[in-house]
Amino acid sequence: MRLTSITHLCGGLLATVLARSAVAAPATSAEAALTERASTGRLVFAHFMIGIVSDRTSASDYDADMTRAKAMGIDAFALNIGTDPFTDEQLGYAYQSAANNGMKLFISFDFNWWHPANATDMGKKIAQYASKSAQLMYDNKAFVSTFTGDGLNVTIVRSSAGTPIFFVPNFHPGQSSLADLDGAFNWLGWPTNGNNKAPTSGANVTVESGDQTYVTDLAGKPYMAPASPWFFTHYGPEVSYSKNWIFPADLLWYDRWNELLALRPQFVEIVTWNDYGESHYVGPLNSPHYDDGASKWANDMQV
Ligand SMILES: *[C@@H]1O[C@H](CO)[C@@H](O)[C@H](O)[C@H]1NC(C)=O
Ligand SMILES: *[C@@H]1O[C@H](CO)[C@@H](O)[C@H](O)[C@H]1NC(C)=O
Ligand SMILES: *[C@@H]1O[C@H](CO)[C@@H](O)[C@H](O)[C@H]1NC(C)=O
Repeated sequence: MRLTSITHLCGGLLATVLARSAVAAPATSAEAALTERASTGRLVFAHFMIGIVSDRTSASDYDADMTRAKAMGIDAFALNIGTDPFTDEQLGYAYQSAANNGMKLFISFDFNWWHPANATDMGKKIAQYASKSAQLMYDNKAFVSTFTGDGLNVTIVRSSAGTPIFFVPNFHPGQSSLADLDGAFNWLGWPTNGNNKAPTSGANVTVESGDQTYVTDLAGKPYMAPASPWFFTHYGPEVSYSKNWIFPADLLWYDRWNELLALRPQFVEIVTWNDYGESHYVGPLNSPHYDDGASKWANDMQV
């Protein structure tokens, strides 16, 4: 999408966020404005959790997500995958649906489940999907990303993929060299205390300071900047992924898009489209999924 039209996207998404129960098609005014876009090579993505829609049974189960995101000006979904047995079935549906609906996709390897020792397996997984028609190509290479993954041997990933890749992982400046990468993705779209908790006056890491760290370390390579409305999560010890925190956001969604218009990064990734359990989803809550009480709540509300 053209970066100057992000305000339209922002407006459309903001309306969605403010009216979570309004799951109709995006506002026609936003759609009309977006048809005027020209391509500048700058792209906007949204992070899409495959793991919480693993109960989908056909490509058409993905159609509403594809058409809605595309209408809002989102260029591609970053499909977050773990190592679950259902992954290939769901990726197959997603790539088919995207092909049917003119949407683009790429894989984002989640290193809560993948491991640097899996570099060869990652390459093979990339090879499985790189030639699909819905695969996002950038600079004639298959776009690939991650959630974390510091310590991964990128040379092995590239050689195992057997096809050129444009690799923009969520490596961290100071923990990994960004030299082997084509770009880097910063996940931290919220102000924090630098230790995964809310900021305090004494420990206050702003999103903009993260931008500056990445831009400096990337030394001219493309930066994939985060945009997120907020983040609240509370899972107890009953699950292996227990987590409990809130990052205060206030006007973050509005302020952040203004920052991005000034920064003009090559890529923006919205965090997220559908991670209901972390509350930072901008898509609708009505898709088939599980992993939280919210889905039951949404189903009850729609009776
Ligand atoms: C990742 O590597 C570990 C350790 O070698 C292995 O047990 C696991 O099966 C690998 N995972 C995948 C998805 O290949
Ligand atoms: C990555 O693996 C290649 C091939 O095995 C090796 O030559 C290279 O030194 C490794 N790179 C790092 C940073 O470990
Ligand atoms: C952190 O810094 C930002 C930017 O200066 C400021 O707006 C915000 O209020 C600060 N947060 C805290 C908790 O001090």
